[in-house]
Amino acid sequence: MLKNFWYACEFSSAITNKPKQVVMFNQRFVLYRDSHRKIVALQDQCPHRGAAFSLGWIEKDCIRCPYHGWKFQADGKCVEIPSNAHGTPIPKKARVDSYPVKEKYGFVWLFYGDLPEAERPPLPTFPEYMVRAMRPVYDDGIDHANYARLMEANLDFTHVIAVHRKSFGQRIPINKTINYQVDKYDWGAVAKVNYESLGNSKSFLNFLLGGRPELKTKLTLYLPNVTLAEINVGRGGRFDIKFGILVAHLPIDENTTRVKRVLYRNILPLPWLDGFFRKIDHKLAQEDTVVVATLDSQPMPKISDELHVAADALDITFRKFLQKSQASFREQVTGDRG
Ligand code: FES
Ligand SMILES: [Fe+2]
Repeated sequence: MLKNFWYACEFSSAITNKPKQVVMFNQRFVLYRDSHRKIVALQDQCPHRGAAFSLGWIEKDCIRCPYHGWKFQADGKCVEIPSNAHGTPIPKKARVDSYPVKEKYGFVWLFYGDLPEAERPPLPTFPEYMVRAMRPVYDDGIDHANYARLMEANLDFTHVIAVHRKSFGQRIPINKTINYQVDKYDWGAVAKVNYESLGNSKSFLNFLLGGRPELKTKLTLYLPNVTLAEINVGRGGRFDIKFGILVAHLPIDENTTRVKRVLYRNILPLPWLDGFFRKIDHKLAQEDTVVVATLDSQPMPKISDELHVAADALDITFRKFLQKSQASFREQVTGDRG
C-alpha cells in the first residue's frame, strides 16, 4: 500500500447525505455529504465499542453511531454522549481519524497519509480530450485478486493477444516485437505502443475505415491506484475510433479489490447504447480477472522472484514505485536504512 497519495475511492454520485462505507487496506471508512454538499470522510469505527458509523445517521452535519448514539462532528471529535448527565466532559479519546477528501472527474479522492496540506501531491490530470468530449459509462465490482496484480494487467501491453484473444485481441498481430520507452514522473508513468496495421484486410470494419487501420495504445499509471488505457483505431484522421479505459483499484485486502471502471468512447455517444458498452467493458475486465486471480502469489512478489522480458518495462516501473514506498515505510517504522 502506498502512503501519502490521493486514492480514487468512490464515484462522486455514490456519496449522498446518507453514510456510505468504503473499505481499503482492511480498514473501514465512512463518507457522507454535509449540508453544503461537502464530503466528510471518517474512520468507520466508533471509539466506544467499535460499531460501524456507516449504519448510523446524519444529524446537522454530524454522524450518530448506530449503537448508543454518540455524536461525532466532521473533524472526528465526539460532541455528545446521550447517556451522560448534562455538562459531563467528553473524554479526549472519544474521537476518530478524519481524512482529507476532494472530488474530480466524477471520483472521490481520499488522502491516505500524514503529510500536511501544503506538501500533499496534486490530484492527477486526465487527458482533456477524453474527459471533456467522450461519453463515459461506469461500472463497479469486486475482484478476487490483489489490486497491484490487477493494475499490472492494466499496464501490460502483451497480455492482450492471449488474455483477450477471444475479444479485441484477435485483431492484433501476435508476433509483433514489443519494445517501448517508459516516461517516468513523480505521479506515475506512461508508455505507448503502435501497431501499423490491424486484422485482415478484408474485414468489414476495415472496409468501413477505408483500409487496414492502425492501432495506437497508450498506458498510463497514476499513482497510487489508477490506470488508464487509451486506444485509438483508425488512420490518424478525425473519424478514428477512440476509447479510454480508466480503472480505480481499491485494495480491500491482499486478495480482494473493489474495481471502479469508466469506459470513455468517442463513437455512438447515445445514452441508450451505454448498457451495450458497459457490457463490453465488463467482459474485458472479467477476461483479465479470471487469469490474474490464478497467479500463485497474490501480493506482489519481489522483482527478483519472477522472470521479466523487455515488454514488461511498464510493469517493472510500477513495481519499483511499490518497492520504494515499502522501503521508505520500513525506514519510518524501524529507522532501518539498509
Ligand atoms: S459503539 Fe458507538 S456509541 Fe457505543
Ligand atoms: Fe486486460
